[in-house]
Amino acid sequence: LGVSGLGTDAWTGKDVLSILDFSRPDLELLFETTDRFVGLPDRVPKTLADRIAATAFFEPSTRTRLSFTTAALKLGAKVIDLSPDVSSVLKGESLPDTIRMLESYADMIIMRHPSEGAALLASEVSGVPIINGGDGSQHHPSQAMLDLYTIRSLKGGVDGLRYAIVGDLRYSRTAASFLYGLTRYRPGSVYLVSPDGLRLRNEVRETIGALGLKAEQLDSLDPILDKVDVIYMNRIQKERFPDPNEYEKVKGSYRITRSTLSNAKDAIVLHPLPRLNELAYDVDGLPNAAYMKQARFGVPVRMALLHLVMGGGER
Ligand code: NCD
Repeated sequence: LGVSGLGTDAWTGKDVLSILDFSRPDLELLFETTDRFVGLPDRVPKTLADRIAATAFFEPSTRTRLSFTTAALKLGAKVIDLSPDVSSVLKGESLPDTIRMLESYADMIIMRHPSEGAALLASEVSGVPIINGGDGSQHHPSQAMLDLYTIRSLKGGVDGLRYAIVGDLRYSRTAASFLYGLTRYRPGSVYLVSPDGLRLRNEVRETIGALGLKAEQLDSLDPILDKVDVIYMNRIQKERFPDPNEYEKVKGSYRITRSTLSNAKDAIVLHPLPRLNELAYDVDGLPNAAYMKQARFGVPVRMALLHLVMGGGER
């Protein structure tokens, strides 16, 4: 499954902490590897046959944990799971000590944690690759990778398209990671659509600005609905609001429905899921709705990611 002409050094044995650690050719290698897995669903090579993957999720997860687990199993790996609520985490064991144990059992650790920088901290004590499945509001690299793969598949590429990133841009790690991913491409335009209290954090704005990504801030999607190719919705991250009153002020402040989208032409609607009321169920039947396809791409993209991190690109 090696892809000729592209290097694999950026992947083999590396941590996956942020999509910013990867160049455009690195991402292209991931997507070409993903294409091969999508094209060979019944003949998946068991390239992780002698490997053990550990999952350690200190925050709720459906898609990320189970699609990584499915990806590892499909490639022939065995998977062990640390359930924080029935492990020594409950007795007060520190994250570094927990990681030191897992690295002695497994060849890779896929983790999610509510604290920013938790995956980076884990990578400093772990001798095996750490795959960040989300650290607080900061990074969610594999989500951004599958978002970009979805756009590449449905729109034929990422360059030149017009993007609206909508909702809780303040706390959504998915929005930040997606913007970081876009810095590797040349989008036509990028609109950041959010109510006042949920604007992009300065650190994210400064990072993308320094990397040359221009983005325009708006309060409403309506004026640009017929001018965008991709609408990336995000859930309000209720669990990350330090003050519940702040959450009360913004909850329900944005929502798209079938009628909102009547001017949207062939824009695709993405959402990392889970959705709450920001994305109405009546959108599901529209040809624009792409979020279920997006979620399903989670397995092949994560197969390609694990395959490359475990050295598969070199075989
Ligand atoms: C997202 C997350 O955990 O950041 N979910 C996911 O991984 N698909 C988005 C969210 O929880 O809103």
